[in-house]
Amino acid sequence: MEPTTTPAQLLERLQWRYATKQFDPARPIAPDAWAALEDALVLAPSSFGLQPWKFLVVEDPALRQQLRTASWNQSQITDASKLVVFLGLRTMTIEDIDRYLQRTSEVRGLPVSTFDGYRKVLVNFVQSGWASKDLLGWNTRQVYIALGQFMTSAAMLGIDTCPMEGIDMAAYDRILGLGDSPFTTVCACTAGHRSAADKYAATPKVRYAKDAVIERR
Ligand SMILES: Cc1cc2nc3c(=O)[nH]c(=O)nc-3n(C[C@H](O)[C@H](O)[C@H](O)COP(=O)(O)O)c2cc1C
Repeated sequence: MEPTTTPAQLLERLQWRYATKQFDPARPIAPDAWAALEDALVLAPSSFGLQPWKFLVVEDPALRQQLRTASWNQSQITDASKLVVFLGLRTMTIEDIDRYLQRTSEVRGLPVSTFDGYRKVLVNFVQSGWASKDLLGWNTRQVYIALGQFMTSAAMLGIDTCPMEGIDMAAYDRILGLGDSPFTTVCACTAGHRSAADKYAATPKVRYAKDAVIERR
């Protein structure tokens, strides 16, 4: 496939992205760009394709204010154009596996019985594979892949983000009424446009030298 960006343009975007501390509350994200970012979330890859997640787009200002108090009062929660709370499945059940196989059968136009063998592999992995001891941990790692894809996609569209773990996940679950739900809060990400007053935009990135983090063998 033909590249849509040059290596130099890609790096320019990745350098431009930074964890935005101050958003411009008056600048919304254009609807078509936001629709594409939601699709970027939907398209994120996950182990076996199980998609153990949900992305809660919180628009209600009162709810966002409540969440801000559960986020060390970080202003991004209320000031960014969009707030996404990334939820992960607390566990992975046979019902979750069957839901995925049902969806696969619909999308690919094949009887669900086509996947009987694969179903056994999945059930066995989830019940006794290496991830079985910590399914929430496994699911959480998948959620972070979606977070990364979301932030990079946003940067490609000239949209600023701030990934946020500085939040009280248990308080989020309470505020969002997730107590009885199969999902729990993993992290959040705000998206919008940076405020001209955010000095962090011009602060040089601190990264280890390439040869300290990339090893060749
Ligand atoms: C998972 C994760 C959680 C983070 N949580 C917060 C947060 O709660 N508040 C914040 O201002 N920045 C947060 N950050 C931003 C990091 O501090 C920032 O990405 C890092 O210092 C590198 O800087 P840069 O993203 O501007 O290049 C978080 C980053 C990640 C990846």
